[in-house]
Amino acid sequence: MTREMAWDKLTAYGQEHLLRFYDDLDSEQQQALLEQIADLDVEYIHQLYQDLVEHRNIEIDDELSAMGSTTWSDVASEERQRLWESGLAAIGQGKVAAFLVAGGQGSRLGFEGPKGAYDIGLPSHKSLFQLQAERIRKIGLDAGFSIPWYIMTSPLNHGDTVRFFQKHDFFGLDPADIRFFPQGTLPSVDENGKILLAQRDRISANPDGSGGCFRAFKDAGLMDDLQERGIEYIFFYGVDNALVRVCDPYFIGFAIDQAKDIASKAVLKVHSGEKVGVYAYRNGKPSIIEYTELPEDLALAQDEQGRLVYGSANIVTHVFRTSFLNSALDKKTPYHVAHKAVEYVDEAGQLVKPLKPNAYKFEALYFDLFRYADDMAILNVSREEEFSPVKNFEGVDSKDTAREMFLNLCTSWVRNLDLEPAMPIEISPLLSIYGHDLDRTEVESRLKDTESGYLAP
Ligand code: UD1
Repeated sequence: MTREMAWDKLTAYGQEHLLRFYDDLDSEQQQALLEQIADLDVEYIHQLYQDLVEHRNIEIDDELSAMGSTTWSDVASEERQRLWESGLAAIGQGKVAAFLVAGGQGSRLGFEGPKGAYDIGLPSHKSLFQLQAERIRKIGLDAGFSIPWYIMTSPLNHGDTVRFFQKHDFFGLDPADIRFFPQGTLPSVDENGKILLAQRDRISANPDGSGGCFRAFKDAGLMDDLQERGIEYIFFYGVDNALVRVCDPYFIGFAIDQAKDIASKAVLKVHSGEKVGVYAYRNGKPSIIEYTELPEDLALAQDEQGRLVYGSANIVTHVFRTSFLNSALDKKTPYHVAHKAVEYVDEAGQLVKPLKPNAYKFEALYFDLFRYADDMAILNVSREEEFSPVKNFEGVDSKDTAREMFLNLCTSWVRNLDLEPAMPIEISPLLSIYGHDLDRTEVESRLKDTESGYLAP
């Protein structure tokens, strides 16, 4: 693309300021900038800004209705056993893959690296990635099959993520079964819809949201990989839950049993204002309503037993049928707009680091695809056993709460064996993920050997 072609493309949408520093750049930088402009869908960004920013005051007149759910603690033990066997058999037959969205930026954590590399301070100092990898490995060993693992990164953390896995020898998994793929990006715009420059020769680019995963997955050729491997169920989850039971056979058994396009795990909200999305039908379609979108009267609404009507919270743990992804993948979903503080280069070429929101970022959310599902089945699980997200540097939902919940859970398994540990205990997922398969004599002897409280396999 020549400078003239770039100029014509940009002026059509009032974005010619992106060439402001062109004459000051060296020829390599000029070339790089022209390539970015060639790839830029200016019309699309302009349209997003028009729809989402200028017309933001559109009323939400959607009809919401509550969604039924199954509560795990109400499921009888023989039934649980049946679900476990069915889920484990599907894994053993190679019908299940794990799909992780790990492209988010972890900015709230104040941590520079990929969020999955974060150490929550357990005695073993395992990262979130390692905890997940070991659960996948253990379930794979129990099922007799090496589970494929698809990991979405972003262009900002792709290299670091892959290097982290390489440095740790893929945590004992077969590298051939782990596929990393980066999500796409979209430029941020200022409050007048002007695309921001991150540097004089670089257009701003932020990850295009968790919902970018489906297109990125397909573009990386991984739908074909799914088909070739004969995958029927995709265990989809987010990176930040320290307790996530990746490829949980019970849950896969539940998904198979329910035979819906989507099965989802939930926990009950601790209070009506908790910052989590909730499950509901929106205009009759399966949906997740983010806490920012749920009107207060509905957030507070209770049934006759005093339970929140919209009380089943999303923990970003789902099983999708491959057939659903196949049919829904190319459907259009909306972008959501976030008003954020975004660094940019000003007219004088100076880098500005604003403290207050100055720009709009566009993000697709993965669950906007749910409206294309036939239906969805919800399983309410125990928060203490299954949900401890690491989102904030300190306080609620931080590494401290995650570490405490992790240790409390493992310690309770030891106490169930009538053993009284002298300190909080961490148990390797390679020894046990659920606690019920621990051997008392083995645990007792390991307790004597440990100084840190970590029980290794
Ligand atoms: C998310 C859920 C919310 C749920 C809560 C529970 C969404 C939109 N909201 O909130 O309903 O109750 O978790 O903890 O999912 N990601 C990417 N690329 C991106 C952005 C995010 O891969 O561009 C990944 C993140 O790494 C994370 C997941 O998507 O694994 C969700 O992150 P985010 O969109 O930040 O949502 P939360 O605020 O965590």
